[in-house]
Amino acid sequence: MKEARRQFRAIKGTRDILPPDTALWNWFERTAREVMEAYNFAEIRTPIFEGTELFARSIGVETDVVAKEMYTFPDPLDLDQIVKLAGESGRRPRQPQFDAEATQARLWDVLPADQLVTLRPEATASVCRAYIEHGMQTRPGDQKLYYVGPMFRRERPQKGRYRQFYQIGAEVLGTSDAPAIDAELIEMLTVLIGRCKIEKWTLLINSIGCTNCRPKYVELLRAELRKPEILSKLGPDSQRRVETNPLRVMDSKLTEEQPIIETLPKISEHLCAECREHYDKLKSELALRRVPFTEAPRLVRGLDYYMRTTFEITSPVLGAQNALCGGGRYDGLVEMLGGPAGIKGIGFALGEDRFIDAIVEAKKIDAARAVDVFVAWMGEKAYPEAVRLARVLRDAGRAVELPAKEMKFGKAFERAAKIGARYVLILGEDEIASKRLTLKRLADGVQERIAEGELLEHIRAVANDKTNTSPR
Ligand code: HAM
Repeated sequence: MKEARRQFRAIKGTRDILPPDTALWNWFERTAREVMEAYNFAEIRTPIFEGTELFARSIGVETDVVAKEMYTFPDPLDLDQIVKLAGESGRRPRQPQFDAEATQARLWDVLPADQLVTLRPEATASVCRAYIEHGMQTRPGDQKLYYVGPMFRRERPQKGRYRQFYQIGAEVLGTSDAPAIDAELIEMLTVLIGRCKIEKWTLLINSIGCTNCRPKYVELLRAELRKPEILSKLGPDSQRRVETNPLRVMDSKLTEEQPIIETLPKISEHLCAECREHYDKLKSELALRRVPFTEAPRLVRGLDYYMRTTFEITSPVLGAQNALCGGGRYDGLVEMLGGPAGIKGIGFALGEDRFIDAIVEAKKIDAARAVDVFVAWMGEKAYPEAVRLARVLRDAGRAVELPAKEMKFGKAFERAAKIGARYVLILGEDEIASKRLTLKRLADGVQERIAEGELLEHIRAVANDKTNTSPR
């Protein structure tokens, strides 16, 4: 009996992005790069996986990201060593690499964190690690870095939320924490949103204080949360966080906890004088740049490294997962990771998957890349000419489809129309004998006989039109 064929599918929460959709993704990435480079940001590329401890320490062990969502595994190369180590510690795991029950939690329990690697759930920690590793503080001025790439979080998949998703982010690292830096970064994001012609969006801003004022606020929050009438209404995660990290209760996503969160003291009302001044200046800097904002006094964000400025841009067109992007200031993170003292940082990351949804919804960008010329050839003598002319056109930057096999002209026209070609270059016996080419414009069916010398001119004219009307 024939063995049933297994059909492989993409893993839950991951997906394939296919043409023609990839054209819009590429357009968006090109546009984002252009905007960020106009603000003098330069690209940094860091590895897709890092030591688990880097994320645990930067993002915080009590965050959902670290506690529940990281793809963590023992580095296969070091497995023997790990098993030996774990054995020595008396906590030997059962074949961690093959044991289906060896869950993330158990890996964490049995293996020392420095033996584990994690697929990056975000890139700020990696950028700070790279900044320290390469002594980038010795380079002149602020380091303004951007990145583009996949991130991994084991969240419950839904529209706009994936386990492999794509972020474009930017970070500014240096010795200054001037609110103008925060405002310029936010302005840059709004410029990008404008280029994408996304009209419905809201910028939410807040300040979550510093190491000076936040501990006092956290105590106040904890005291409030410990009140039996409040504590009893919280779920087990939040109840635990009241003791371990009460700020995390503020960004709980549970609907039933939202009414309680609404009643909690607002961090922005407990800022020290320096933080208040920083926040006020941020607001005037945004006003100077004509960036409209809404204050969100309970916006603390889901990662532990933030201080002072936090922000998010949401869009109602996105549904439940409405955050297009988010970010904030993280002065002190570089030092906490073992880097030089006094380095300040601020950055954001935007969800590409969500931007693409918002761009599609706005219906203002057409990034489709059309084929310029379909070469229809018939006959042995026409074929070498078809190969040669296709090359001439491609060298001149035109997109050309050259059928590998001879096709009747009628069929070739059909195919050309189906793939959206603008022109068909016809090469048959007549054309070879007369050394004149036939060029058919598919939009209106107009057919012309031209000399080879005129070919590029004809095609170029159309190509220019196209770049004027669509953002290639
Ligand atoms: P984040 O808020 O965790 O921040 O993520 C930023 C953006 O990534 C979100 O606003 C959302 O658009 C997108 N995103 C997050 N998770 C998913 C998911 N599962 N599926 C689809 N999109 C998602 C950070 O990652 C920080 N590193 C931002 C930052 C940079 N802060 C300072 N510098």
